[in-house]
Formats: sequence, C-alpha cells, structure tokens
Amino acid sequence: MTNFTHVAGRVHADLASPDWWREAVIYQIYPKSWADSNGDGIGDLNGVRQNLPYLAELGVDAIWFSPFFVGPQTDGGYDVADYRDIDPMFGTLQDAEALIQEAHELGIKIIIDVVPNHTSVEHPFFKAAIATPPGSPEWERYHLVRGQGENGELPPNDWISIFSGPAWTQTNFEGKPTGYWYLHIFDAGQPDVNWDHPDIVDEFDKTLRFWFDRGVDGFRIDVAHGLVKSEGYPGGGEEKVLDENGEIVDIIPHPYWCQDGVHEIYRRWRAIANEYTPTRIFVGEIGEPTTARVAKYLRPDELHTGFNFGYLTAQWHADSVRKNVNETIEFNVPIGAPTTWVTDNHDTTRSVTRYGCDWPAHNWADSVDRDSKFSNHYVANDEEVALGRRRGRASMLQMLALPGSAYIYQGQELGLEEVRDIPAEKRQDPVYINSKGDIVGRDGDRVPMPWTRSGKSLGFGPEDGAEPWLPMPRRWSEVSVEAQLEDPDSMHSLTRTALLLRRQLPLLGSGQMRWRDDLVESANVLAFERFDETSVSSVVCVANYGDENVSVAALSVLIASQPDVSLHNGHVVIPPDTTVWLIL
Ligand code: BGC
Ligand code: MG
Repeated sequence: MTNFTHVAGRVHADLASPDWWREAVIYQIYPKSWADSNGDGIGDLNGVRQNLPYLAELGVDAIWFSPFFVGPQTDGGYDVADYRDIDPMFGTLQDAEALIQEAHELGIKIIIDVVPNHTSVEHPFFKAAIATPPGSPEWERYHLVRGQGENGELPPNDWISIFSGPAWTQTNFEGKPTGYWYLHIFDAGQPDVNWDHPDIVDEFDKTLRFWFDRGVDGFRIDVAHGLVKSEGYPGGGEEKVLDENGEIVDIIPHPYWCQDGVHEIYRRWRAIANEYTPTRIFVGEIGEPTTARVAKYLRPDELHTGFNFGYLTAQWHADSVRKNVNETIEFNVPIGAPTTWVTDNHDTTRSVTRYGCDWPAHNWADSVDRDSKFSNHYVANDEEVALGRRRGRASMLQMLALPGSAYIYQGQELGLEEVRDIPAEKRQDPVYINSKGDIVGRDGDRVPMPWTRSGKSLGFGPEDGAEPWLPMPRRWSEVSVEAQLEDPDSMHSLTRTALLLRRQLPLLGSGQMRWRDDLVESANVLAFERFDETSVSSVVCVANYGDENVSVAALSVLIASQPDVSLHNGHVVIPPDTTVWLIL
C-alpha cells in the first residue's frame, strides 16, 4: 500500500516507496505538442516546467516523455543522434535537469524514452559507417548485408518497413552504389543497430546511467521486442500456427522481431537499474503476439512493466473489454507484474474517435479504404465526436478503477478527438510520407494542446509566437484547459476527481478485483469490485456499454462519468455509455 503525504494541500504518493510504479498513473507528454515557451511553434522543456503545476493539480504520479534528444526529427524524435543531450528545439541539458528537480519537488516521477532498436542516420556511429566501404569495422555496428542479384542491386530479402517500402536501403561509397544494404525496420533515417557489437551495448549502458544519475526514475523502452534479428536474415513474415479446426494456437513472429536474445539485454539493464535508489524502472513497448511471450519480459530480473496493448485495441464493447481484463489479470498475477491499462498514446487514433465511430479494433497502419468509417482517413462528425467524448469519460473512470497502473496521454483528460483535416503539406509523420498519403498516420493525435479559450494558438505558445507546428482546430477553444477548469462537469474535472479518489482509497490501486455480474443482469454491463482483505469497505465500478439504462442497488455514488447520476431510493440508474464508482 502506498503512503501519502500532504504537500501544499495536495495528496502525493510517497516518492520513496520502492513500489510506486505498481499503481502509478502516468501522464504521457509528447514534448513537441505540450507547451511552447519560446514561441517557435514547438513545445519545449521550459513549457513543461511552467505547466508542471497543472499536472500536480490533475494528480498524476509520473510523466513519461516521448524523446526530446538531439536528432533530425524524421520520426518525431524516435530517431536519435545523441542519446545524452537535449535537442536545441526542446531546450538544454540544464533545462532537463531543472525539470527533473522541479517535478520531484511536486511529487511527480520522470520516465523518459530510450530508443535502442535504431539510431538516427545522424548518430556518430552511422556517420562513421557511411563514410567507409562495406567490410569496414564501422559497419559492424549496424546490419549491412549484400543484396541479391548479380551486383547486389536487389534488397537482401523481402522484409518490409513498418512505414512502407523495403526495410533495406542500399549504401553508396564514393558516389557509387555498393551492392550492400542497411536494415531499417522503420524509416530509412532509422538504421537498426547490431546488438552483438560491444559498442552498442556500451552506448546504452552509458545512456541509462547518464539519465539515472540525473534523477530520472525510469525508461520507456521503444520497440522492446525488436533489438535482436533472426540469424542469417531469413525472409518471410509472421506465421500463424493453426489446430485441426483452423483456430490459431500460436503465432511465430516475423524474423525481425521477438528473438530470445533480447532477454539478455534486459537482464543487463535491470542490473544497472537495481544499482539505484529510489527504485528506477523500465516499461517496455512489448509487441509480442501472445501474453505468454510478453510474460517473459516481465520476469523479476527483466522489465518492471509493459503496456497493455490488448486494452488499447479493445473495441468499445463489454465483451471485448472483459476478455482483455481477464487475460491481463490471468497472466500478470502469477508472474507478480502489475497490470497496466492504456487507451491512448502518440501512435494511436484517439480513443474518442475510435469509440465514437465504433471501430472494431485499431491499427494505424491498416485500413486504406477511405470511404469506410473505420478508415484512418475518415473524419468523425460532430455526433460521433460527442458520443466518443461520452465514452471517453466512461472509459477513463473504468480504467482508473482497474488494478495496477494506468496511462493518460496528453489531451485525453480534455476529451480531445483525432484531428483528420491536417493539410498534406503540414503532415510530418513518415507513415504518411512513405505511404504517399495512403495511410494517414499519427499526426492527428499529436496536435498541440489547447490551453486557453482564445489566442492565436489557444495558449499553446505566446501570442506573438510562430504558428504551432501542426494546425490546431479553432473548435478546441471550448475544450481548452481554461474552459474545462471553470466547469465542474468537464472531462478534466472528472479525471482530477477520480485521481484524487484513487489516492484517498488506496485499494483502488493495490487492492484485488472480482467481477460482480450478480449486480446487473445484462451482458452489456461490466461490474467489478475492488477490495482488500484488510478493509471493511470496497468500491464497485459499473460501466454500461449497452443502449438501455440499468439500475443497481447501492449505498452511495462516489463518482459518475455523467452529471446527474445519483442515488434515488437506494438505487442508482446508470444511463448508456456511463461508468460509476459505488459503495454498495
Ligand atoms: C514509437 C513510434 C515510433 C517507432 C519507431 C514506436 O513504437 O512509439 O512512435 O515511430 O517506435 O521508433
Ligand atoms: Mg518552443
């Protein structure tokens, strides 16, 4: 159980608790898009420093920052040229140090991103390699392979980049093609590194220590499952193993993913983290196809936690969510890793839009059928956005009632929807650029935060500053931070109250959970109870996914995702797309 201390009238999780990460609510900041202090149209570290009180008030335990390191920004910072310095666009190392200290003073932990699968082409290792012919030792830090065809003029195999096109680019030396190709699972500006090389191991040891020494509390590991490639670079892709009835019984991942060699790296990293107090943690972006495979990363001497992508991709439907919750708890409990919950991040169509349009599942790289409502090009209409916001509120309350740790992506606390009407020339995501616009990509969930009702950039930057790097919809004036702070019924107020309750009722973080299907007879309702053996009271969370009201007997309503949901004659009536927390 977490201990709490009061600082300036606010309840804070105990920073020294070694287990803070087990039930932390972590707020993700995409630094380019949060707050611009110097008026260049791009968010920066001093913008974050100025607005830290906002996060303290909201009541989150930690911030996870997407990358703010030196790099050309070919993939929004996931292309790093110097892992141990801040890109001038975001500020300086001194700004980062001040930010870490100021956050800690407010009781907020700092998690930063580490990108170990690939560097930028601007990294000194790659610059050194590209300046030499194939066969030179500098190339051994990357994956350089002879192409097919007489002169190596064809890629070494059929591997496709996640961002479209071949996963290989031929190198030139002294102006001529060499017949040798380097591997890049993502953009050509993001060459994959060779983890068998001691310089790579050393580069990341140094990086972890550099930031841990500066007080950083943890790392989110980008593409944690990707670091080691299958020996000999065999062609082919993911394979599904079917039983005699055609049911999928196992999935053999693509040969560029999910190799056993990654575990050795994480054991090494965990040993480094364990040298530090208070606890330093790792959260993995683990793209393994089965929960059994994910579990391996969460062994006690590897990573602390991973994202629950099954919850993120679940449809707005009771069955879909129930299935994920069951699976998640079933596989986490035996291995002792906390469950995590997440619906939004910088790679994902915002949940407001997905839920409002009833998307069956979610993958930003799929679906190029532009007429379909499930297409990544589809622009949700006002009605769909309103429905999505209502569901976003219900989802937030459900997520914050589930056991373990949860993630809130910037703007989720405002109910922001995906922005689709971004002009082509403003778009920056390589997913869009490399697919020549076929796949709309992720710019629409990276649009800057609206802070104020008025002003050129709705308070994202100073009034006399440059235009935000992505255009912001004027309609966001009404959902701006300023507008929502004034409104006790806003999504922001709801989130803040829920976070406060979560801290006042520690069983919501660390307690156990059991389904309470006995409370409501409807397959469209998810009801569960949070309890711990030591306390008399418990909290019940009921989410109504159906299209009819449901009624539950209760003693009191702690919070409801819609205003005007209250107790009458010992019963609470829960309308469609609404979640409530109850004391029975
Ligand atoms: C990050 C993406 C990025 C990719 C390549 C991901 O999983 O979250 O934003 O494009 O890794 O680094
Ligand atoms: Mg700026």
